[in-house]
Amino acid sequence: MEKIKNKRILSGIQPTGNLHLGNYLGAIKNWVNLNNDSECLFCIVDLHAITTWPKFDDLNIASREVLAGMIASGVCPKKNTIFIQSHIPEHAELAWIINCVSRIGWLNRMTQFKDKAGKNQEKVSSGLMVYPNLMAADILLYKATHVPTGEDQKQHLELTRDIAHKFNTDVGSEIFPLPEPVIQGPATRVMSLRNGTQKMSKSDISDMTRINLIDCNDTISEKIKKAKTDSGDFPVDKMELEERPEIKNLINIYASISGKNIEQVVENFSSTGFARFKAELTEILINEISPIREVIRELMTESQELDKILDDGSKKASLIAKPVIKEVFDAIGFNKRRDL
Ligand code: TYM
Repeated sequence: MEKIKNKRILSGIQPTGNLHLGNYLGAIKNWVNLNNDSECLFCIVDLHAITTWPKFDDLNIASREVLAGMIASGVCPKKNTIFIQSHIPEHAELAWIINCVSRIGWLNRMTQFKDKAGKNQEKVSSGLMVYPNLMAADILLYKATHVPTGEDQKQHLELTRDIAHKFNTDVGSEIFPLPEPVIQGPATRVMSLRNGTQKMSKSDISDMTRINLIDCNDTISEKIKKAKTDSGDFPVDKMELEERPEIKNLINIYASISGKNIEQVVENFSSTGFARFKAELTEILINEISPIREVIRELMTESQELDKILDDGSKKASLIAKPVIKEVFDAIGFNKRRDL
C-alpha cells in the first residue's frame, strides 16, 4: 500500500447501518493503512443518507454503528477527525453553490443515479440526483488532496475534479486543489456472494449476499459455504477469472485479507479445489472479523463516548470548513458574513 505523505485525506461513509466486507476491504482498511503521515478526515454522511428518505429514528444509532465499525477496524479517533456531515452547515452551503456550478449533463451521466433510481427516475428525490454535488462539497470544503474509496465512487470523484476545475476557472482563482482518487488493492469492488455481477451492498434485501462486520463466526461460515461458485474446477490461471465473476470475487477477498497476490492464491488452490479454498477463506475471514465484531459490540454499549468523539470531530472539522467557505463566498462576491 503506497503511503500518502503530508496531504489531506478525506473520505465519507453513509450511516446506513452496520458495515459490510465491501466497506471494510474497499475503503476502511485502506484508510487505516494510508494515514500515518497525513491529516485525515472521515465524514459520516447523514445528509447523503436522507436522499432515500430512511426511517429517521435510526440515523443516530446507524451513525454510532458506523463509527464503532471504523474504530474497531483500526481508524484511531485521536489521530483522525471523524465527524457527522450535518453538524457542519458549510457542507450544505457549498453544495448549493456547487449545484450552480455542476451541469445537468454531467449529473445525467452518473451511473450510480441510474442504478439507484432504476425505472423510477421521475419519482426519486431531487436530492438523489444532486447527491454527487454534495459529495464534491464534502471533499472540496476541506481542500482534500486525496480521496480513498472503493471503485463505485470513481465516477463521482472524476466529477468532483471537473467541478473544482470549473469553479476555479469561473472565479479566476485556484481555490480548490483537484483531488486525487485513491482506489487501490485487490478488493476495490467486492461483489455479492450470490451474484458476482452485483456489488456487495447494505441495501440488498438478502443478508446472505454480504458478510457484515458484526456477523458471528457461524454466520460467516454459513455464508461462505453457500457463496455461489460455478460448475467448473478451481481455476489454474488468473486469466480464467474474467469469465468467472463469483470465483474472481472470492479469490479477490482471499487475496485482500491474506496479503497474497491473485496468482499466488490461484496457484495455492488449483490442485486442491474449492472445498479447501472455502475452508481457508472462512478461517481467514473469521480471524479478521471476529476481533472487530467484539470491539464493535463493546463500543456500542458506550454511546456517550461515541457521541463525544463525534462532537470533538465536528469542532475540528469546523475549524477547517469555516475559512474555506469564507474564501468561496468572497470569490463569488457575496456580501461579507459578519460571523466569519
Ligand atoms: P458508501 O457509504 O456507499 O460506502 C462507503 C465506502 O465503502 C466503499 N464500498 C465498497 N468498496 C468495495 N466494494 C463494495 N462492495 C463497496 N461498497 C461500498 C465505497 O466505495 C466507499 O468508499 N458516496 C459515498 C459516501 C461519500 C463520500 C464523500 C466518499 C459521501 N461524501 C466524500 C468519499 C468522499 C457512499 O455512498 O459511500
